[in-house]
Amino acid sequence: TVPVIVDCDPGHDDVFALWLAAGHPALELLAVTTVGGNVPLEYTSRNARVALSVAGVADVPVAAGARGPLARELSTAEWIHGENGLGGPELPDPDRGASPVRLDDRGATDLIADTLQAASEPVAIIATGPITNVAVLLRDRPELAPRIREVVWMGGSTDRGNATPYAEFNAWVDPEALDQVVRSGVRFTMVGLNVTHRALVTPDVRARLAALGTRTAAFGDELLEFFCRTNDEVFGMPDGPLHDPVAVAVLADPDSVEVVRTRLDVELLGAETVGATSVDLGDMLGREPNAHVVVGIDVERFWDAVATAVERLA
Ligand code: BDR
Ligand code: CA
Repeated sequence: TVPVIVDCDPGHDDVFALWLAAGHPALELLAVTTVGGNVPLEYTSRNARVALSVAGVADVPVAAGARGPLARELSTAEWIHGENGLGGPELPDPDRGASPVRLDDRGATDLIADTLQAASEPVAIIATGPITNVAVLLRDRPELAPRIREVVWMGGSTDRGNATPYAEFNAWVDPEALDQVVRSGVRFTMVGLNVTHRALVTPDVRARLAALGTRTAAFGDELLEFFCRTNDEVFGMPDGPLHDPVAVAVLADPDSVEVVRTRLDVELLGAETVGATSVDLGDMLGREPNAHVVVGIDVERFWDAVATAVERLA
C-alpha cells in the first residue's frame, strides 16, 4: 500500500477524495490537513472532519493549515459548494456521534512533518485545494523533502480554466504556492481540468453509488445532488465533474490514468491570465521537464475505484 496524506479544502469533491484515500485498499491514509480555499479554513477544517466521521474513519488525525494564499487575498467558491462548503446534506457535529473526529492541536505543517518523520518509507502528499500548505512545509522544513514520495495535486489544466478563462480555481487562488512547489524538486504530478472534466457525475454514476446503500453513500448522494445542481447553474454542466478524487486515483490505481513527463510553468504576472498553467506538451520552449501531467483517464476504472472505496466505509 502507498502511505498518503491528503491536504484539502472540502468542498464536495474533496470529500470523495478523502473517501477514496480512506477506503481504497491500495492506500493507507495517515493524516489529513486543511486549507482555506473553496470556503474559509474554519469550514474546510470542520468539513474534512465531517467527511471522515460520516465514513467511520476516526483514527486519522486532521489539522488545520493556512487560512489563505502565500501572497494574495483568499478567493472562495461558495457558488459551487454553498455557504458552508458542503451544501446539501444536514451536517453532523464531527465532535460527537459514533466516530468522532476532533481537530488535532498541531497545525498542518507540524502534523505533516511528524507524519513524514514517523513513517517507515516516503509518504505521498495528495493536495486537492490551493497548494499553500505544501509550499509552507517545503519553505519551513526543506530537510523533509526526501521524506515526500511525491506530490499529486488536483489543479491547473492543459487547456482552459474554470475560475478565469485561463486559470483553474486551485491554481488561481495561490499561484505563488504552486510555483514554489513545482520548483522544489519534489516529484510533482498535476491532475488538471483536462482530465477531471471527464470524471462526470452522470445519473448512472449517482445511481451506482447510491445503490451501495451505506450511510456514506447516502450522504454522498446528497452532496452530489447539490454539486450537480450548482455545476449546472454556473457552468451548464448538470453532470458535475468530480475533480479531486482523480488525484487520489493516480496513486490508488495508476493504470487508470495516462501520465506524461513535461514542462509545467505557472503564470504569476498576467493581468488576465494569472494562475494559468503553461504545460509545454509539444516541447516548444525546450526547457527541462519538471513535472508529470495527467493527460488521459479510464473513466470506468476511475468510478470502479471510487465505488470500491466507498463500499468499504461505514
Ligand atoms: C477545484 O476547485 C475546487 O472548487 C474543487 O474542490 C477542486 O479542487 C476544481 O477546479
Ligand atoms: Ca478541492
